[in-house]
Amino acid sequence: MSHHLELTYLKLLPEQIKEHIMKVRNKNEKLLSQEIKKYIGKSGYTAPDDSIIFDAIVSLSLGKNVLLKGPTGSGKTKLAELLSNLMFQPMYSINCSVDLDAEALLGYKTITYNKANQAEIQFVSGPVEKAMKQGHLLYIDEINTAKAETLPILNGVLDYRKMVLNPFTSETIYAKEGFGVIAAINEGYIGTTPLNEALKNRFVIIDVPYIQGEALFEMLKEQSEQKDEQLLKQFVRLSRDLTSKVEEGQISDEGASIRSLLDACDLSVYMPAKRAITRAISSKLDDERERISIENIAATLFTSS
Ligand SMILES: Nc1ncnc2c1ncn2[C@@H]1O[C@H](COP(=O)(O)OP(=O)(O)O)[C@@H](O)[C@H]1O
Ligand SMILES: [Mg+2]
Repeated sequence: MSHHLELTYLKLLPEQIKEHIMKVRNKNEKLLSQEIKKYIGKSGYTAPDDSIIFDAIVSLSLGKNVLLKGPTGSGKTKLAELLSNLMFQPMYSINCSVDLDAEALLGYKTITYNKANQAEIQFVSGPVEKAMKQGHLLYIDEINTAKAETLPILNGVLDYRKMVLNPFTSETIYAKEGFGVIAAINEGYIGTTPLNEALKNRFVIIDVPYIQGEALFEMLKEQSEQKDEQLLKQFVRLSRDLTSKVEEGQISDEGASIRSLLDACDLSVYMPAKRAITRAISSKLDDERERISIENIAATLFTSS
């Protein structure tokens, strides 16, 4: 996205919010080192409607935690990066999984050697501590995949106290002004793991659906290797058909992933579209009937290729 578009987003914001953001932006532009500026996200998200970006920015500016909820490949990570970009705030990421532990969140101890070659124990800050101490953003991806025992560490971080006791250093960490949390959860149309209620309660929820129609076409034009507009329009139709199959419960969520669609578009520069769709979309599904269903849709849309 161009600098121009970025400013357009900011112009749409209520006066107080805009003032707050401009203050943070100006301060960060001046004071942050080049090294830390690398943690500021890129602006490549296309929104299905304006309220998504607007509401997320307003919530973050008010110091609220934002939970992006949507199926895989709907652009949640891209949206979080855009928010970091618009606010000009560095963002530290955590990728949750069952292996996630307190050290992955807060940091760990390690041995280093000083100039006299003596061993010293040093604490290396994790993403939670870094974001809190510097007043930056924290992105927690796939928060619902973390073990139930690990997440309570975040309770204090996520409520009004915005503090956490680091058990490794016995230090109590308080969030500096500007600290904000964006989390993402893969919650699709059917059969997805719900997030613990107590945790969900601490967030403002923003639904992030797959983009469709004109917005999808524009995004593909911008991001795909495939530049043939006729073909891209066919891929937009394919996406529409796949999304309705997902909504009807006939194929699983991943079938409509925009990430996979983008892969198929890219491959179609070098191979027939139908084969590209097999490689990038249908082969990913476990169920043979689902795969056949996608192949059939592809066959009707891409007859000659
Ligand atoms: N709304 C969107 N705007 C821009 N790019 C998108 C959008 N939706 C999907 N994409 C593309 O699909 C890929 C997956 O998006 P990502 O943000 O990683 O999805 P998620 O985090 O929801 O799984 C991105 O790399 C991007 O190229
Ligand atoms: Mg993601």
